[in-house]
Amino acid sequence: MKKSNSWIHVCVHFLLFMTLGVHSATLDVGRVTNDIDKHLLALRENIPEDYRIPLTYIPREKGEMCWVKLNVFFLEKSLDDLSQKFGNISSNKDITKLIIMYLQDERIIFQQNVNLELLISDFECHYSTERWETGTYFDFLQELFRAAPNENVSEECDPPPCPTIPVSTEEYSAENLTIKGEERSKPHQKEVHTANPIHEVVEKSLFSLLFIPLLALIFLLAWKARSRRNVDDPLPNPGEEDRFATTEPRAPPLDSETNVLNVCAV
Ligand SMILES: *[C@@H]1O[C@H](CO)[C@@H](O)[C@H](O)[C@H]1NC(C)=O
Ligand SMILES: *[C@@H]1O[C@H](CO)[C@@H](O)[C@H](O)[C@H]1NC(C)=O
Ligand SMILES: *[C@@H]1O[C@H](CO)[C@@H](O)[C@H](O)[C@H]1NC(C)=O
Repeated sequence: MKKSNSWIHVCVHFLLFMTLGVHSATLDVGRVTNDIDKHLLALRENIPEDYRIPLTYIPREKGEMCWVKLNVFFLEKSLDDLSQKFGNISSNKDITKLIIMYLQDERIIFQQNVNLELLISDFECHYSTERWETGTYFDFLQELFRAAPNENVSEECDPPPCPTIPVSTEEYSAENLTIKGEERSKPHQKEVHTANPIHEVVEKSLFSLLFIPLLALIFLLAWKARSRRNVDDPLPNPGEEDRFATTEPRAPPLDSETNVLNVCAV
């Protein structure tokens, strides 16, 4: 439990700052909810009623006084995924991005007052992931925006007891790395598991992060093999040497960053 919490802490921290970025903290629009109702309504009307939108969330009765704090990050993520579904010049995309900005402003206010990632990890076992119909999804969003101005930004809550035993950390095995890695590229596969959604997010991030040391290791081994060959054969075929040099930096660091960025795509 302790161990998994610290992983989650690191990951959520990482995600909070890397995935969504820190959006201009000085804007005050986060507390203006009149406009947001209009935008929410417009977007809701543009999405088919039977469309299902994935969301990792905490119900209001579990989140209590920290309900908005606990949901704001995953709502951003969910809307971000949703915005990818729209074309680049679609007005839906613009509205979605605007709503995300409101949420980001809200989140930044919270982050300035509480340790949000720690709070999220404390409530980890109470999150679930659902694919909600448009109406339910937007009702939830609207309720959250209504509740936001009333939530004490500096209050930290104690989580209620976990309903089930959390998933153990033994899953992080190297053998399962490729399986988990492949799952990442199939965005609609994982909604089947509703338990421990944060674990899934964290797991995937961790696996992406594992690629960095793995690449380093491969690089090191290649380098060792090469220097050993150089000792054995001080005059290597220059053509071979060249070929080797060009194959080494196959996977640029940018790649793993992209992986991390895609990690939260539900
Ligand atoms: C949409 O924008 C993204 C990045 O801005 C770009 O990579 C993508 O090719 C664009 N798609 C279309 C259909 O224009
Ligand atoms: C908000 O929460 C903090 C910490 O629990 C508390 O000290 C403060 O009085 C609360 N503010 C309001 C307006 O309730
Ligand atoms: C890999 O994952 C499966 C279930 O996802 C599990 O049954 C299996 O034990 C795992 N392998 C290792 C080596 O942990």
